[in-house]
Amino acid sequence: MTKTEALHDLAQKLAADSALPLRSANLVFGEGDPDATVVFVGEAPGQKEDELGRPFVGRAGQLLDRLIVQVGWRREAVYITNIVKRRPPENRDPLPEEISAYQPYLTRQLAILAPLLVAPLGRFAMNFFLPEAKISRDHGQVFRIGGQFVVPLYHPAAALRATQVLEDLTKDFLRLPKIIEKCRAIAAGTATPSAAPPASPSPRSQRKLF
Ligand code: URA
Repeated sequence: MTKTEALHDLAQKLAADSALPLRSANLVFGEGDPDATVVFVGEAPGQKEDELGRPFVGRAGQLLDRLIVQVGWRREAVYITNIVKRRPPENRDPLPEEISAYQPYLTRQLAILAPLLVAPLGRFAMNFFLPEAKISRDHGQVFRIGGQFVVPLYHPAAALRATQVLEDLTKDFLRLPKIIEKCRAIAAGTATPSAAPPASPSPRSQRKLF
């Protein structure tokens, strides 16, 4: 089965799962290149995303698009999705039970995509991967969880509200190509992480690499 077929199957299972919360909203599964090196993971669809069935197509999405172009990539060449695949009413924060209900679908989606790097956008997406992390401290840092590199970034919507956050998000984004190069080298065994390994690695091995 190809990645595209596996993703299609998963989207159909998601659509048919009547136990999921937020069923009155439209499904926003995710889109992009199944072979993308980077997968961006947001929080949950907003109004525009719900209307169009596509992730990050509102104001925050326009900023994400600009940042993607600024580093010399194309939106079609990355993959974009959310932890929660349907819009919470009035764009409220997703509830813990909504995040856990959709969790197996994101986990499977990422297993199919198997990107080199996952970039969670904002605190909710970051804490899905790194429960202990703090966005103000850990944005732009590189973690390794199992075989996957994870670089939390500020949410573009937060960057639209605060100039300093926009500056930090832009800086982190512009470092992504270099980070990817280094992650590739670490994955290939031709480079070693600069940070010393922790004295007692946690079972999930959420250590900061560089
Ligand atoms: N914010 C998100 O977290 N996801 C979207 O798809 C749009 C806005």
